[in-house]
Formats: sequence, structure tokens, C-alpha cells
Amino acid sequence: MNVSDLRGILAYIPQFREKVFVIAIDGAIVACENFSNLVLDLAVLRSVAIKVVLVHGIAHQLKQLAALLDTDLSDTTGIGVTDQKTFELSLMASSKVSFQILEALSSSDLKACITNAIVAHPFGIVGGIDYQLTGRVKKIDVSFIEHLLQKNIIPVISPIGYDGEGKSYRINSDAVAQSVAEALHAEKLIYLCPYPGILNEEGKLIRELDVAAAQEFHKNCSKNLPEVIHSKLEHAIHACKNGVNRVHVLDGRMDEALLSEIFSNRGIGTMIYANQYESIRQARKKDIGAILKLIQEPIEADEILPRKGSDIARDLPFYYVFERDNQIVGCMAIYPYPKTSQAELGCLSVAKNYENQGIGRKLMKFAEKISSEQGFKQLFLLSTRAYVYFMQKGGFKEADPSILPLERRIKYEKNGRKSKVLYKVLN
Ligand code: ARG
Repeated sequence: MNVSDLRGILAYIPQFREKVFVIAIDGAIVACENFSNLVLDLAVLRSVAIKVVLVHGIAHQLKQLAALLDTDLSDTTGIGVTDQKTFELSLMASSKVSFQILEALSSSDLKACITNAIVAHPFGIVGGIDYQLTGRVKKIDVSFIEHLLQKNIIPVISPIGYDGEGKSYRINSDAVAQSVAEALHAEKLIYLCPYPGILNEEGKLIRELDVAAAQEFHKNCSKNLPEVIHSKLEHAIHACKNGVNRVHVLDGRMDEALLSEIFSNRGIGTMIYANQYESIRQARKKDIGAILKLIQEPIEADEILPRKGSDIARDLPFYYVFERDNQIVGCMAIYPYPKTSQAELGCLSVAKNYENQGIGRKLMKFAEKISSEQGFKQLFLLSTRAYVYFMQKGGFKEADPSILPLERRIKYEKNGRKSKVLYKVLN
């Protein structure tokens, strides 16, 4: 870890202080070996004044109980039909999980309380099927949960809802967590499950999706997702659309999963977000220090032409920075040559620990977009060492130095770097 990582981590603390995080834990995670470590992470969150609300699932324990008693269940998820027997077993599974959570929290000196904050109605008869004791969330007792939070007590919410007239229902815990997060205007909803996050069709972890991209993914590519993940994706989209800024799907079996996701700006699981996460903007005077730091190594490696703070200050309107959660992690410059309708992409650099995350590609795309919006017909660049990268990832093609605008060509010949000239036609 270097100093700039530390700065990034610490920047999240004031951002998240006093905010509510709803953390939904699958029953399988409560049962796994890493659960005690997870509770250590919860203690860290509490120590920086993050308000934690826990919602838990029970599917894993429910299945175990059914196996133990050699009996069948009408449903394990709280989505299908819950018959009387399945409901009884759900209550048993739920008290077991709640107990395990309280026990683990106690060992970290965290005070917690099992609640009856979910007001539920029966799911009803849909499409001719009576869902019996399956319920849906009618209301959340927000003032009760807030009261506990004010007293530094962690509310523990199980997937059982109460109708206030002596009847209770089994509800899907992902849905409960979504409703709780929305009702509390939570800053975050975090699903901890036994998967690395949401994987794309090639089996690769999707790091982040804004809500629109998440919806698109849900519509077109989510057929093969495991049921557990599919459900998280759907509830994440709803939560984001209803005011929860960020929903995370994380692997609860992983040590320090919570901390790595919350306090690093890259994260370790999948984040679905409704607020700003990454942006490219024009550089400002106060960014010069950060830009100089970004280009120091590439300058030493002779990848970028040496330049000083005063050079950057002079050309500031041409510089852009890539920010992730307000931290500058990449930069570039776009120099205009209006006479020949050309623009030059220069000084593209991404911080070492942010390489291979597609940031360079996003910068190139952005450069193309705004150069073309500004009426330029061609984007060119000079590269001594990274030309393969620009050709493979950016689709640039090699050209003869004679394509350069005259004033640029004179400089090119004078500095003797013999860089390769690459170009891309803009539309
Ligand atoms: N630490 C930040 C947050 O908790 C960003 C996390 C980014 N995570 C990701 N999977 N891209 O909001």
C-alpha cells in the first residue's frame, strides 16, 4: 500500500460517517467460516461511525433442517409458495441464524437487537396460485430502526414479517433488505453472498454498472446467472432507482470483503450505482500537482515528453483528468490544430495501481468524442513505447510523420525522439 492509497481510503471515512449501510447477509454466509471475520469488519465500520443495519437470509439453514428431518419444503427462498410446514421450519431456521449473528456480534462487543420492524401482508393469490404464508413487505417501522441506531444498537432483521394481527409471513431476504434500505434512505445496500459478485457472460467479474447498464444487462444477459445473484441484481436495480446510491454484491466468504469494497475506490465485488463514480473533466489549476505525479514515472521511462508544472499551467485548458470518487487516477491532453482540423492526444497516463482497468481506454474514447464534437477530423498521437497499446486498444493506425501539422512536424524533427506517429479518423 502506498501513501496515495491511504489518502483514498481515508477520504471515504468522512464521506460515509453517520450514514446508514444496510448489510444483507445470506444464510450461507452466516454459516461459513469467514463469518467471524466479517463481524470484525462490522466492528470497524461501527468504529468510524457508520450505522449498520443487518438483514439476514435463511435458505441455507432451511435446507439443512429439511435434510435433517428428511422432509420436503414447498420453497426455500421466500419467493415461492410457503406452506405451513415450510413456514414452521423457516421460523426455526430464522431463530438459529439470528442467534448466530447475535453471538458473533457479542464477541466483538457490538450491541444488537432482533426486531419486528417489518410489517407484512400475504403475497396473495397470483395467477391462480395461493402463495399461502409467503409475504410481501407492506411497511418498514423506520422510527423503531432509527431509534436503535441512535442508541448504537445494530438492528437485526430476519426475513419474517408481521401483520400486526397475530399473523406472520416468510419474505425473501433480498426484498426485505431492499425495502429497508429504501425506507431508511440508506447510503448503501450491501449483499453478502457466496459468489464473487455478478459475472458477465464470459464468467468475468463485473466491477461496476450504472443503473442503466445494470438494467440492460438484466434484460439481455442475465439468463444464466445463479438464482441468488439474479435476485440481487433485480433488487439492486430497484433500490438504486428508489434513492439508494450504491448497491454492492460481494463475496461474503472472502476475508476483508467489506472493508476492501468500502474503503478502496476500485472495490472487490460488483457495484451498481446511481450517483457519480467516475468522470472525466477538464483539469483545473489545483490538479497540476496530481498530474505531475501521474506523469513522473512515464517521463522517467521516456514514454511521455518531459514537462514542468508551468508547461501544464500554460496548456491547462487542453488537459483532462479522470476521477474515481474524486480521486485523480488518470490524465491526458488534447491539443487542437484547427488549421488542419487535427487534434493531438498527448500525455495520457494512468496511475500504476489503476492500470488494466480500462481507464486508458475510457480516456481515448473521450478524446475521440470531444475532438469530433469540436469539429476535428483526425486525432493523432506520438508514441515511443506504448504504441502497441494505442493500436490494439484504441484502434489507432500507424502513419508517416508527414501527416502531422507543419508546426508539430517541425517540433517532431527537432526533438529527435523518433516517436511513432499514430492516427485515427474521426466521424
Ligand atoms: N469504495 C467505494 C464505495 O464503497 C467504491 C467501491 C467500488 N466498487 C466496485 N466494485 N467498483 O462506494
